[in-house]
Amino acid sequence: MELARVKSAYRRYAPIYNFIFGRIVNEGRRRAIDVLPQRPGDHILEVGVGTGISLGFYDKHVDVTGIDVSPEMLERARKRYPKSRYPNIRELIEMDAQDLKFPDNTFDGVMAMYVASVVPDPKEMMREMFRVSKPGAPILVVNHFASSRKALRMVEDRFAPLSNRLGFRPDFSMEKFLETIDATPESISSVNIGGYWKLVVFRKPGSNGQGPSGSNGKAVTGTNGHA
Ligand SMILES: C[S@@+](CC[C@H](N)C(=O)[O-])C[C@H]1O[C@@H](n2cnc3c(N)ncnc32)[C@H](O)[C@@H]1O
Repeated sequence: MELARVKSAYRRYAPIYNFIFGRIVNEGRRRAIDVLPQRPGDHILEVGVGTGISLGFYDKHVDVTGIDVSPEMLERARKRYPKSRYPNIRELIEMDAQDLKFPDNTFDGVMAMYVASVVPDPKEMMREMFRVSKPGAPILVVNHFASSRKALRMVEDRFAPLSNRLGFRPDFSMEKFLETIDATPESISSVNIGGYWKLVVFRKPGSNGQGPSGSNGKAVTGTNGHA
């Protein structure tokens, strides 16, 4: 998918996005945010923040910066979370997840919820997410991945040619995703109705000064070093 196509799809989705993709996949958003240690003062980056539908799930004492390429989606997030009422929502910026304008090692956690199968180049997005994370920080991806069930897979494959119009790739494969990004997840769990979506937890190698087991006390397994 090209960026122009993504923008055009989400320009169309913006007014109805929360109605269609709200509650139905909220469990995945909450579960991903629950993985974050959310220490007071932590600064979290959410890439593809969209209409800001997840922003209310973060603790008020952590700062959140959101980025997205769709001005129409962001406009809704800004309206719902004005700085005057939500000072912890630091900035909602128009920016490409594949080319983040933040220095290396900036954030205490980086999230991509329902974005990996939308972004034109998931490898570049993940490389950027690892780069801007502090050592030891969790990097979380929630997404639908192509089903291992034959019947569902057939439906996904059928819809795959419509990806540009749908605004996501229904046949997005977990195996290919992990292979291309060359990183090993710390854990993978099923979320949302029927376990049809996955929460994939990565961690940037290195210590965050919170002890050897990473920022939320979970064991750190290797990633292949995207820093
Ligand atoms: C399915 S929506 C997910 C929105 C939100 N994360 C949620 O939980 O509902 C995908 C979002 O990713 C954004 N997006 C797609 N490609 C992007 C890119 N390269 N950089 C930043 N945002 C991107 C789209 O504009 C859209 O808002």
